Amino acid sequence: MRSRKISKIIRCILCCILPLLLLSGCGSNAGTGAGAETESGRELVIGFSQLGSESAWRLGNTASMEQAARDHGFSLMMKNGMQKQEKQIAAIRSFIAYQVDVIVFAPIVENGWTNVLQEARDAGIPVIMMDRVINIADSDLYDAYVGPDHYMEGVNAAKFLMRKAEEMDKEKIHIVELSGTDGSSPMLRRFRGFHDLIDNDDRFETLETVSGDFLRSKGRKCMEDLLSRYGDEIDVLYSHNDAMTLGAIEVMEENGIKPGEDIVIITVDGEQAAIDLLKEGKINCVVECSPKLGEAVMELAEKMVNGEEYPRNTHPEESCFTEYDDLSDLAPRGY
Ligand code: AHR
Repeated sequence: MRSRKISKIIRCILCCILPLLLLSGCGSNAGTGAGAETESGRELVIGFSQLGSESAWRLGNTASMEQAARDHGFSLMMKNGMQKQEKQIAAIRSFIAYQVDVIVFAPIVENGWTNVLQEARDAGIPVIMMDRVINIADSDLYDAYVGPDHYMEGVNAAKFLMRKAEEMDKEKIHIVELSGTDGSSPMLRRFRGFHDLIDNDDRFETLETVSGDFLRSKGRKCMEDLLSRYGDEIDVLYSHNDAMTLGAIEVMEENGIKPGEDIVIITVDGEQAAIDLLKEGKINCVVECSPKLGEAVMELAEKMVNGEEYPRNTHPEESCFTEYDDLSDLAPRGY
């Protein structure tokens, strides 16, 4: 009895101190979970490799993970990959060394994960892929995915454009596209979903697709370049995220262009700032991509550890907000 108590105290100390040691110097936030016990009586520790903090969407996603971990009483060890795959791989290796219960990662790009996921598999640690997906020959090397369907987001963007085109009264509609981080699943799939619909329609011509890396600053820079190359030829901006869109809109306004009128704007995410601009008529369509994935991730983690059945894919419900909708009742976005 006494020795069980002592070993429990030792485990508690390890749970509190080791995460701090592992996380020191990496500039990340650790959750403050109370260390809830699973059915087997063991405190549940989640190792979470977040890919960066490039957008309000990403900050909302991190906050959702931290809140859900607190709600479940789990200990969350988070490392910020600062947009670098090698940092994410190093983080996952440190979680394996620590023997966390579950690894969660938001993969910055699709390729290059086989070795580290094999190491997690060899260590017997389940892996949840969150927000983005990967391209891997052996898909058994991860256990589940929680996140949006990025291909459908591209499809929804195209569907809006097809509707809008009916009232644009133009023989040719010229599109510029700000794409996300090269090689990332939202970039690849938002591109593909959109172009699968519009590329066979003669009304549309894509002048250029440039990567703004999901960053507001790069969205600004890319829009400056696109305007200098194509000027008032541009009819439509399709942007893979709100952060880049906000940067692009600044540039348009500085150049006397009316966003939403002179250039139709379609964006993805659904940050509060983008919804506000949609209501003001400066954005025409916001395709929703929800960052609020934390609760679904924690529920899944708990099921995995308890040996219960769980779904392989969990997609949050998502919507598409357009200038044709009544948005007066839309709840605050929270990101
Ligand atoms: O992976 C989701 C994307 O990543 C969001 O659209 C974007 O804002 C973030 O950077």
